[in-house]
Amino acid sequence: MVEVKDKYNIWGGRFKNQTDEIMENLNASIFFDYKLAKFDIEGSKAHTKMLAKQQILKEEEAKSILDGLDTILSEIETGNFEPKVSLEDIHMNIEARLAELIGPVAGKLHTARSRNDQVATDFRLWLRDRIDAIVDLIYELEVALVMKSSENIHTIMPGFTHLQCAQPITFAHHLLAYVSMLDRDRERYMDTRKRLNESPLGAAALAGTSFPIDPDFTARELSFSRAMMNSLDGVSSRDFALEFLSSTAICATHLSRLSEEIVIWTTSQFDFVKLSDKFTTGSSIMPQKRNPDAAELIRAKTGRVNGALITLLTVIKGLPLAYSKDLQEDKEPVFDAAETIEIVLKVMTGMIHDLKANVETMKKSSELGFSTATDLADFLVREYNLPFREAHKIVGELVLLAEEKSCTLKDLTLEDLKGGYNDLGIEALNTLSVEGSVQSRNSKGGTSPESVKRQIQYWRETLKCA
Ligand code: ARG
Repeated sequence: MVEVKDKYNIWGGRFKNQTDEIMENLNASIFFDYKLAKFDIEGSKAHTKMLAKQQILKEEEAKSILDGLDTILSEIETGNFEPKVSLEDIHMNIEARLAELIGPVAGKLHTARSRNDQVATDFRLWLRDRIDAIVDLIYELEVALVMKSSENIHTIMPGFTHLQCAQPITFAHHLLAYVSMLDRDRERYMDTRKRLNESPLGAAALAGTSFPIDPDFTARELSFSRAMMNSLDGVSSRDFALEFLSSTAICATHLSRLSEEIVIWTTSQFDFVKLSDKFTTGSSIMPQKRNPDAAELIRAKTGRVNGALITLLTVIKGLPLAYSKDLQEDKEPVFDAAETIEIVLKVMTGMIHDLKANVETMKKSSELGFSTATDLADFLVREYNLPFREAHKIVGELVLLAEEKSCTLKDLTLEDLKGGYNDLGIEALNTLSVEGSVQSRNSKGGTSPESVKRQIQYWRETLKCA
């Protein structure tokens, strides 16, 4: 960032003295809104073309402005643009550079426009671009999860409630739950994009303009679906950014749950999965350690994303219409959340892609905790037409007995079974295998390999992935 003494006079004739340096530092947004540069130029070009079409600018004036803006764009792209703090923000920096390049005609660019509608436009363009990237990244993660599921249709693991072993499930089934969540996340972003995709350009400072502008033209030039209906709303609404942050907070929260599970699964106590070296770190003191830092960081990054949402909600809360400088504080939380969600989605995709299930350990664990007790109760209901509540009680007593004998339900004797319910025969024990248990849960959305295959098929078609 370059400091200049000979300032480009941004406020025109109204001011005699320069702003205090400390005020300049508080006031300037160039430290972070430089990110908008490319979109600021895009917006300015659309505005210039509109002004020319409406004969507010002469053709040669418009041409000179457009050429100048293209020059600045290439300076930005090649890293040759040097923003100045004293010029406050990206908009003033670009305008000042334009004046250097093409002279006083540069001042005509700002006809029928204010930084208020300009920044709202830039921010929407920037965010639309990031949403498109994020939607693709979620898609990649969904595909990675569907692929990992196809490898694990028959991998049996314990399903948990209260993090206590509940019923055996297939690993594919577990992973596919996240595909459902992520697909809704992706939809939420696409939905956010729809509402965001309106052009505020033409709202000017707050009240519109007396020039005969054509906001629908600029909207079309910038691929917005339409120009905004109300100029006050155009310059002061940030619900598009709030929606983006909400979608991001929800998505990050989903990723934090998966991360937490990966952290649990990789402990030596669980040992359900192995992460690749690419997504694991060691310890500087304990040579045996393989830490799931990637999953831990994704879990933790959710904190800053959720924080960003609260930050912006708090900035907007109680803010009177129309523009106030408070709105400059909308950008950093959004930039940070976007950057964060992008990197965590990429890392999660890599981690899932490389992850290996420890099939034997998972299966052994699924046999613990009397995980198939419900299957025995269901058997009593089916076979002897007992009310489920009664069957539940009988099996509960058998579990207690097994616990007392320190054995599994499978190890109970015929006598034990008959003690629970007189008609029970030894064949009842067949219902206790974890394979049989998962196979039997073939209801829609259930855990059986058949059901999981149907789910995978659905996602392959929906996501159009092989
Ligand atoms: N840097 C400002 C922002 O990000 C641009 C708009 C300034 N408008 C104003 N009326 N001071 O919000």
